[in-house]
Amino acid sequence: MEVLRNRYAPVGRERKSYGDRCGAAKPAIGARWLAAGFFVLWMLAIPRAMLAKDADCLSCHADKTMQDASGKNVGVDATAFHSSIHGSLACSDCHASIHEYPHPDHPAAVECATCHADQAKGLKGSVHAKASAHPCASCHGDAHAIFAKDDVRSAVYPLNIPRTCGTCHGDHLLAKKYGLQNVYSAYMDSIHGYAVSKEGLLVAANCMSCHGSHHILGHNDPKSPTYKTNIPNTCGTCHGGVEDQYLGGVHGKAVASGDLKAPVCTDCHTAHAILQPTMASFRMQSTPICGSCHQGRFATYGDTFHSQLGLLGGYVQTARCWDCHGAHEILPASDPRSPVAPANLIETCGKCHADANASFVQYQPHANPRDRRLNPALYYIRLFMNLLLWSVLGFFALHTLLWFLRSRREQAKNGHAGEAKHD
Ligand code: HEC
Ligand code: HEC
Ligand code: HEC
Ligand code: HEC
Ligand code: HEC
Ligand code: HEC
Ligand code: HEC
Ligand code: HEC
Ligand code: HEC
Ligand code: HEC
Ligand code: HEC
Repeated sequence: MEVLRNRYAPVGRERKSYGDRCGAAKPAIGARWLAAGFFVLWMLAIPRAMLAKDADCLSCHADKTMQDASGKNVGVDATAFHSSIHGSLACSDCHASIHEYPHPDHPAAVECATCHADQAKGLKGSVHAKASAHPCASCHGDAHAIFAKDDVRSAVYPLNIPRTCGTCHGDHLLAKKYGLQNVYSAYMDSIHGYAVSKEGLLVAANCMSCHGSHHILGHNDPKSPTYKTNIPNTCGTCHGGVEDQYLGGVHGKAVASGDLKAPVCTDCHTAHAILQPTMASFRMQSTPICGSCHQGRFATYGDTFHSQLGLLGGYVQTARCWDCHGAHEILPASDPRSPVAPANLIETCGKCHADANASFVQYQPHANPRDRRLNPALYYIRLFMNLLLWSVLGFFALHTLLWFLRSRREQAKNGHAGEAKHD
């Protein structure tokens, strides 16, 4: 090794100090002879100036504090490299343009694609195609310490993926620059983020579960797993049971037939800020979500005792849309399987009203007194009450007006009489 170092100690370049350092240690006389012998052998045996073995490069680069002329660190952690998945490769397998020393100060960039063509091809057509730093290292981390994806030290080990993607997608400036949402913090607070980061649950959704790894596409691309119509399938890879229910309901059928106005999983649950549905905050925020599409039904629900109670101090146990309609297999009221079909109401209301009977369920959860066809009794009651109200108000208004006119006339009369007195 000594031989190599001396042989390649650069002279008269800015690297000089480095070369000096390599040759600085003074070996004993015997060792010098031995070294000279090796040197001659090496000169004879090896084609000139071939640098191949890791050790050759590491004789200089193993110094972790080594810097190039511009002050950039060019040291390599040899221990980490040898324990990495590429530990058995030679440096020049990746640094394919370096075969001899002196080598160029700025050798050609490493092409991972020569060995990993599929991943490189996927990346090329993705949203990350324009990455400025080394495109692969931006997710895989230090190029000399890459580990298998199922190794806990890997930057793409399932539990580490959110942090890896989060180095960019948790960055406010980057989000602003590209007009993206800053999704990382929302994700970390979600049920999935909690399961991954706090419970270490490998089967919970990390960024890759929904977006893929190399061929990541924007959500407006119909081929993306996050494109609206593909979302049920994306979530369904883990939530298979819920997906089946959803596909059997009106919303699922509508989306499957291409109606983009109907909701998919993320319209009700969001994509990154998914809450546990039993949480009070979910129950409070989701009623208006159903209501954002079903405005009429939301308004009539708003008039009922259930809703008023829900608003009052945030009482959460009261009936929300899905307590009566179900959440995923939602069906029209005319479908006998619907929980709000007339025959099922006793059971549905009975979940909370133990004494619910046929007359109790006559109560209209969406009573709309303005709709004569749907709610004739209410309609006429409202009409009668309105007539009564307006006729009483009208009578008093007329009465007051006449009273006023008369009092003006009286005043005017008395006024003139007063003036006359003064004169
Ligand atoms: C005798 C010492 C020595 C040996 C041996 C050596 N290098 Fe270097 N290498 C350097 C120095 C010094 C620099 C900094 C160059 C500069 O100042 O710009 C450097 C820089 C580099 C760079 C960084 C260039 C950049 O863009 O910043 C790479 C990559 C590199 N070497 C790879 C290798 C490989 C691979 C080998 C083995 C095949 C090797 N080196 C062998 C001394 C050495
Ligand atoms: C798996 C491929 C791979 C192997 C094997 C590899 N490197 Fe690198 N190396 C890279 C990549 C990628 C970079 C980032 C710069 C680039 O794109 O060229 C890099 C950068 C460097 C740099 C510049 C400093 C830095 O960290 O950015 C040095 C020096 C270097 N490598 C030395 C070595 C040495 C010495 C070995 C052998 C012990 C080695 N490399 C093995 C991929 C590799
Ligand atoms: C946007 C982040 C990202 C970028 C950029 C990226 N990768 Fe990956 N890579 C991942 C993730 C995440 C995995 C884990 C895949 C899995 O667990 O199935 C992975 C896994 C791999 C694997 C293991 C085999 C496989 O496909 O599962 C290889 C090999 C790989 N990447 C190579 C590359 C190369 C080469 C590049 C550059 C061309 C690159 N990666 C760029 C995120 C990335
Ligand atoms: C000279 C060929 C070669 C080059 C160049 C190369 N790799 Fe590899 N890579 C391999 C081999 C061989 C393996 C081990 C495959 C295995 O064990 O399944 C591997 C494994 C990997 C793995 C782990 C795969 C897994 O199953 O989890 C990743 C990630 C990876 N490489 C990324 C990269 C990146 C990023 C680069 C560029 C910086 C790169 N590789 C450059 C040959 C190469
Ligand atoms: C449970 C599935 C899921 C997980 C987990 C997930 N995403 Fe998303 N992501 C989506 C969906 C679906 C969209 C489509 C747009 C939407 O509904 O907000 C999206 C959109 C995005 C967008 C684009 C936002 C925009 O402004 O257009 C980015 C960036 C993103 N995700 C990054 C991430 C990162 C980083 C992680 C991990 C920290 C992650 N996602 C985890 C499903 C997921
Ligand atoms: C090195 C920084 C970086 C890393 C790491 C990174 N991204 Fe990105 N990502 C970006 C940038 C920048 C964009 C915007 C690209 C553009 O619009 O040109 C982007 C765009 C996206 C988009 C598309 C948003 C849209 O709908 O247009 C998604 C989805 C996404 N990234 C997910 C991920 C996931 C998942 C990971 C981890 C596996 C990840 N990113 C890792 C920088 C990064
Ligand atoms: C990689 C598998 C996976 C994917 C993909 C996935 N999830 Fe999950 N999800 C889980 C796991 C595992 C849990 C349980 C976490 C826990 O209980 O700690 C969970 C929990 C949930 C919960 C809370 C359930 C409860 O009873 O508390 C909801 C809601 C949810 N996911 C919705 C979604 C939606 C919506 C999507 C798609 C946008 C999705 N998930 C994609 C694995 C996944
Ligand atoms: C129309 C709104 C809506 C849509 C669309 C929707 N969900 Fe839900 N989801 C809910 C509501 C509301 C709950 C709470 C149910 C409860 O507490 O009884 C829920 C509950 C859940 C739960 C907890 C377990 C359970 O069944 O109570 C999971 C997991 C879940 N949804 C996943 C999904 C997935 C995956 C999709 C897409 C295939 C989806 N949801 C589509 C509104 C929706
Ligand atoms: C993104 C908008 C959207 C959201 C959010 C939404 N829906 Fe719907 N809903 C629709 C559309 C569109 C239809 C009509 C589907 C069809 O073509 O039959 C529908 C149909 C229905 C039907 C059947 C009505 C009929 O006339 O057949 C019921 C009941 C229903 N939704 C209840 C709910 C409940 C409960 C929620 C919240 C848990 C909810 N919806 C959330 C858009 C939405
Ligand atoms: C207390 C139980 C209950 C609650 C809470 C409830 N509904 Fe209903 N909903 C019903 C019943 C019963 C019907 C059928 C009678 C009717 O049309 O008024 C119905 C009918 C509907 C219909 C029409 C279905 C069809 O096939 O014509 C829609 C849409 C609807 N509800 C949406 C909602 C939304 C959105 C919410 C929450 C804002 C909600 N419901 C809250 C019980 C309820
Ligand atoms: C998720 C539970 C839940 C469901 C399902 C539910 N309710 Fe209620 N309801 C409540 C709560 C809580 C109150 C207020 C406390 C009370 O008075 O019992 C209430 C109050 C009422 C009231 C006024 C007070 C009373 O008890 O007379 C009526 C009427 C009513 N509900 C009718 C219905 C009808 C009809 C259905 C079925 C279509 C239904 N509810 C389904 C929880 C529910």
